[in-house]
Amino acid sequence: MKNLLCGKEIVKSFGEGNEKTRVLNQVSLEVERGEYLSVMGPSGSGKSTLLYALSGMDIIDNGSVSLDGLELSGLEDEELSDLRRRKMGFVFQQPALLRNLNILDNIILPMMRDNRKQVGTLVQKAKTLMRLSGIEGLEEREITQMSGGQLQRAGICRALMADPDIIFGDEPTGALNSKAAQEILDLFDQIQKAGTAILLVTHDVQVAARTNRVLFMQDGRIVSELRFQKEKLDYKARAEQVMVQMRRVGI
Ligand SMILES: Nc1ncnc2c1ncn2[C@@H]1O[C@H](COP(=O)(O)OP(=O)(O)O)[C@@H](O)[C@H]1O
Ligand SMILES: [Mg+2]
Repeated sequence: MKNLLCGKEIVKSFGEGNEKTRVLNQVSLEVERGEYLSVMGPSGSGKSTLLYALSGMDIIDNGSVSLDGLELSGLEDEELSDLRRRKMGFVFQQPALLRNLNILDNIILPMMRDNRKQVGTLVQKAKTLMRLSGIEGLEEREITQMSGGQLQRAGICRALMADPDIIFGDEPTGALNSKAAQEILDLFDQIQKAGTAILLVTHDVQVAARTNRVLFMQDGRIVSELRFQKEKLDYKARAEQVMVQMRRVGI
């Protein structure tokens, strides 16, 4: 079966001349449909840059990225943003929600550009997602009246509105206390079980332990990989394995 996402020998540099540094050095990876994986590595190793490259948020210097067999670099700007809106969801450390809109409007806002969808349908969908995410009844809330965990759930609802094939998360629990972080990870489990692929970038061993495959990055390269058996859900043992592997590759 064809993979969902395929990155081949991705190269990305920042800066010019003597200042030019290669942040991604021929990175290749494949993500299967419905897969749950994470990318770990020290700060500055290129994790976020990789996520931006794979999701078409950033232009790469060399190599290729394709989603569902469609090469991103071959698309016009409009086609790319359409593809991203329909097939990809994004969750960041802190969700970029608008202060002058309530939670419900924030969740449906990105979909309002798609005029094939009726507002009523969008509202129903948003309400369903809010219920599944544990923020039912907070539709009218101002964003200043929500906790970090609640805001992150709202961000996840927004990312799920288009029924994406894949969710990209950049340190999605990085700004949360450990209880809220656990709840967000439970929510990701639920989303992944429903069939959506999830790729999380993290430097947190506990987060990596929840996924089924961990890629280790160092200086712009994937240097190692760890696979967990899906049935083995002892997260403490998995976290141990992740730490052992980190020591082994020296990160
Ligand atoms: N827009 C940018 N301009 C210049 N340098 C950048 C930019 N984005 C990232 N970098 C550099 O690329 C390297 C990798 O960054 P990043 O992908 O954010 O690492 P990570 O997410 O693993 O912490 C860092 O040295 C960072 O300073
Ligand atoms: Mg980062």
